[in-house]
Amino acid sequence: MTVKGKTIVVTGAASGIGAETARLLKSAGATVIAVDRNEPAASNVDRFVQADLSDPASIRQAAKALGSGIDGLCNIAGLPPTRGRVPVIQVNFLGLREFTESMLPNFNNGAAIVNLASLAGIGWPEAGPAIKALIGLRDFTATEALCNEHKVDDGRSYFFSKEALIVWTMQNRWTWRDRGIRMNTVSPGPVETPILKDFLETLGARAEEDMRVMDRPGRPEDIAPVVAFLCSDDSCWIRGTNIPCDGGMGSHVLLNITGLA
Ligand code: NAI
Repeated sequence: MTVKGKTIVVTGAASGIGAETARLLKSAGATVIAVDRNEPAASNVDRFVQADLSDPASIRQAAKALGSGIDGLCNIAGLPPTRGRVPVIQVNFLGLREFTESMLPNFNNGAAIVNLASLAGIGWPEAGPAIKALIGLRDFTATEALCNEHKVDDGRSYFFSKEALIVWTMQNRWTWRDRGIRMNTVSPGPVETPILKDFLETLGARAEEDMRVMDRPGRPEDIAPVVAFLCSDDSCWIRGTNIPCDGGMGSHVLLNITGLA
């Protein structure tokens, strides 16, 4: 895995998985630019651009400030379901997409985009019409109306945002192929970061069952190397797909749903 000499933007670099990804990329020789609403640890990054990734104006301003010469974008910033359905969908999907699209002119040919989805997005094949509606939504102020129409409450919003992210990534498998730009998602299971308690709170008994069958929750150190690999040229034939990184939980869930466990 080589990222030496690449310039890579990492959102969410102030905490958890984003902080560890920034640290790892920098230690491997990449120039790391953090985008977050909070300031990251200075030792993990080369530059910091402050932005609110739920706000289209702030997003476009950040993309402009970042400028050209970007080889990788790790979209890791995200909110847990306890933060409410509108911010969750705005940060986890609408803002992420807006930022990625605003960054397109800044990318070098061959750039890699890596989106942090989740095991929570595994149910996307069951939610086609609502996902289609969200992907069709461009107006951030219409988020609440879309949630009402598709019966997305706070608890469901996190799953929904990650389902849409996985589908949008697959849909764009070849969109920027002429420039060699590719995009993938990584889907962790539960990871020990400041938002793990929010997931446990929202998912209740289901989360307790997940934690019971897992030998341990994931750590940011389990996820960051997968993100870094997807930024490297070694993964250039991996395009428009979702890579689970969940200690086996995804297989466990799928086999149980299908009765093949
Ligand atoms: P975290 O809470 O430790 O870090 C999230 C980062 O995103 C923070 O630095 C925060 O400041 C930033 N952020 C949030 N809203 C923002 C906004 N509006 N503008 C700019 N920055 C903003 O979370 P963690 O656990 O590291 O999560 C990272 C990603 O991994 C998220 O997308 C999350 O959904 C995903 N994930 C996390 C799992 C877990 O169990 N921790 C499991 C599966 C996926």
